[in-house]
Amino acid sequence: MFSRLAKSTTPVAAQFIANGGRNISTSNPRNVKVAVMGASGGIGQPLSLLLKHSQLISELNLFDIVHTPGVAADLSHIETRCKVKGFVGNDQLKDSLKGVDIVIIPAGVPRKPGMTRDDLFNTNASIVRDLAAATAAVAPKALIGIISNPVNSTVPIASEVFKKAGVYDPKRIFGVSTLDVVRANTFIADAKGLDPAQVNCPVIGGHSGVTIIPLISQCKPQVQFPQDKLTALTERIQEAGTEVVKAKAGAGSATLSMAYAGARFTFSLLRALKGEQGVIECAYVKSDITEATYFATPILLGPNGVEKNMGLGKLSTFEQELLAKALPELKKNIETGEKFINK
Ligand SMILES: NC(=O)c1ccc[n+]([C@@H]2O[C@H](COP(=O)([O-])OP(=O)(O)OC[C@H]3O[C@@H](n4cnc5c(N)ncnc54)[C@H](O)[C@@H]3O)[C@@H](O)[C@H]2O)c1
Repeated sequence: MFSRLAKSTTPVAAQFIANGGRNISTSNPRNVKVAVMGASGGIGQPLSLLLKHSQLISELNLFDIVHTPGVAADLSHIETRCKVKGFVGNDQLKDSLKGVDIVIIPAGVPRKPGMTRDDLFNTNASIVRDLAAATAAVAPKALIGIISNPVNSTVPIASEVFKKAGVYDPKRIFGVSTLDVVRANTFIADAKGLDPAQVNCPVIGGHSGVTIIPLISQCKPQVQFPQDKLTALTERIQEAGTEVVKAKAGAGSATLSMAYAGARFTFSLLRALKGEQGVIECAYVKSDITEATYFATPILLGPNGVEKNMGLGKLSTFEQELLAKALPELKKNIETGEKFINK
């Protein structure tokens, strides 16, 4: 994971990444505390493992409704400086969030074959609502990355909860759509015989089906495909999550690739928190770039979250058509999330 990031970073960060976060002394070893909510799950455990490996994190709090004492005991034996603590059950929820700088939320049920991400709404909406409410009460200034699906709706849910608590800052709440970028990079590299670590394809819109819009015309390095191949590649990126759900045949959805993507996003937040310039990740945020009030675009990250929304760039005709298809679905998903809190 670390070589991909190295190319766009300063030498110190590049060295850190190349070393997987070990054996680096930085001049600014500010203590950063991260909480993973849903840390015992299919994503939560490997994500926590990757985060434990980072020298940029001094404390890692693991919250779940089950098993976190065991996960924390296990991870705490790894020979990195980051201190790991487990918190289990709602009685310990607020304690798990005290003093945290970054909260990553992969709590909630995953898909089974035949389900859409929207089918998860009934269960996951209230999980995200309750975790957001605790964060708003205890760590209102934290940067928050929401992985729980349907991301198109859970980010508006968390935002509404923060508004009700009077502590909303749209720059600090992110839907983690990094896996769509990771998949686009991998599939494009496969198709063109490139090193995936050298490919960077922005993916905008939302995080489900037609709302996922890969901007292959803006891929670096530049790549060209005939229209039939471009359509097939775009659809594969949009349906890549379903590819994993089908292959796992009832045992869940993407966990390992999502843990990688979640760690990549968290490391980018950490690097921006530490004052590194030029850190850009696509993420689903409050937005005025299109008529959808939340929308994923490349975001320049800073110590306070969104530093600058980099916008859409120049879209091809094909990508404009994808955007037109995505917007009605996205707007519906956003409304569903907002109504859930304001009903
Ligand atoms: N954003 C993305 O790209 C992406 C990709 C893959 C999966 N996901 C989503 O991530 C979520 C988690 O997937 P998973 O495979 O890890 O599921 P999982 O069932 O393996 O793990 C979920 C964990 O959440 C915990 N949990 C449930 N209620 C909780 C609560 N109130 N507080 C804290 N923890 C709670 C469970 O105990 C469990 O340990 C799902 O909603 C899935 O759809 C998102």
